[in-house]
Amino acid sequence: MEKTKKTASERGGFGSKLGFILAAAGSAVGLGNIWRFPYLAAQYGGGVFLLTYLIFAVTFGFALMLTELAIGRRTGKSVIGAYKSINKKFAPLGWLAAAVPLLILPYYCVIGGWVLKYTCVFITGDGAEAANASYATSEPEVSLTFFEHFISLVKEPTIFFIIYVVLTAVVVMLGVEKGIEKVSKFLMPVLLVLIIGIAIYTLTLDGAAEGLKYYILPNVKGYKPSDYLKTIAAAVGQLFYSMSLAMGIMVTYGSYMRKEDSLEGSVRHIEVFDTLVAFLAGLIIVPAVFAFSGGDKSALNKGPGLMFITLPKVFESMPAGQFIGTVFFILVALAALTSSISLMETVVSVVMEKFRLNRMKSCLLVIVLTLGLGILSVLGYSEWSDFTLFDMQILDFFDFITNSIMMPIVAFLTCIFIGYIVKTKYVEEEVTYGGKQFRSKKLYNVMIKYICPVCMILILITPFAIKELR
Ligand code: TRP
Repeated sequence: MEKTKKTASERGGFGSKLGFILAAAGSAVGLGNIWRFPYLAAQYGGGVFLLTYLIFAVTFGFALMLTELAIGRRTGKSVIGAYKSINKKFAPLGWLAAAVPLLILPYYCVIGGWVLKYTCVFITGDGAEAANASYATSEPEVSLTFFEHFISLVKEPTIFFIIYVVLTAVVVMLGVEKGIEKVSKFLMPVLLVLIIGIAIYTLTLDGAAEGLKYYILPNVKGYKPSDYLKTIAAAVGQLFYSMSLAMGIMVTYGSYMRKEDSLEGSVRHIEVFDTLVAFLAGLIIVPAVFAFSGGDKSALNKGPGLMFITLPKVFESMPAGQFIGTVFFILVALAALTSSISLMETVVSVVMEKFRLNRMKSCLLVIVLTLGLGILSVLGYSEWSDFTLFDMQILDFFDFITNSIMMPIVAFLTCIFIGYIVKTKYVEEEVTYGGKQFRSKKLYNVMIKYICPVCMILILITPFAIKELR
């Protein structure tokens, strides 16, 4: 990004507050909401996870997003330049934050490839097969579901992954991300309506009520202290991921924001929208798991494959399910693309700045890196499935080091930086710019100075304290 301080409009800022919110939502709403949130909610206690997530979203998520946007708008720079310009000693924080999208992008594109595969399956009318197929293995007792069979192949997931990377890269190379604001304006509301419709349908299925209870009501019966820790760690990691926090994205977004728009208001809007989509996706998937499995615990613990295993069954049981499924997967693919485009764009702009390369060369470098690291994730689920890092498959490992290690470190250092070194006044002045009120000032200060840093330490030690935690 440019070195000099430019105003939002010179930097190609957003045309309106709504445009900004929808563009930010377009980048925030993606696979995190639709793929990641539901499987974590299913795995980590349903209602307990949901409640934990909501509490952290309105307190901690709010404070961190406000901080990042304020830093970006005040410095007018992207993440690396921003931290450096406030305090030279904190330049490494910018680098650490900037490294996160680089590691997320490859495996994000692998999952994006899975979505493309399912889009094709539904377009070609094979949705029922995705719901019911069973593949024999060399062991007579064991058979694979459609999803497990698909990811165990090497060629197919690789091809879809490459197609997905190319789709993302074309937009970034042509530099037409401006179109994202337009796409998001249309895409987000349509996606929301469709998800609401499918959620209502799912809730009418036999057995869904049990799932609804599990998802909505926090039931801590049998919860051990270590279970709470795991749930908190999973919820906060998800919060970072879903709201694109602790990775410098919101700093860059802030630098594009207009001075006259309310920071506090924008944060609230993005948060509400992002959380709503995640909540609704969970409202489809968790009750559906119960409806199709009778509440069997192992069905809830399917991890990253949960959405791909569950949704085809929902669509198969639904009138016009083939058509609705097709539309749904196309919209999810688009939502994923708007996110991966801004992920890649972020990485490319960091590479341009750091290595002083032009846009084309940076793009090519990032594409090669993405393909290289992404293929590792594909192989981790197929050829190399016996190879694990800390008991995790390669894709899960990338997810883990970014969400559970790097982002908490970035968040912790950001809190220390703002809370104790530059002081919260720095953010406050930006929030109250032009005579605006800072309504949550007390909450903000307490969060940044005390509660967030302590929580981050807790999260960082959790995986080491509890071995089986991922
Ligand atoms: N928040 C996005 C999602 O929910 C994923 C994401 C993580 C992202 N980091 C990002 C998107 C950076 C854009 C930019 O899917």
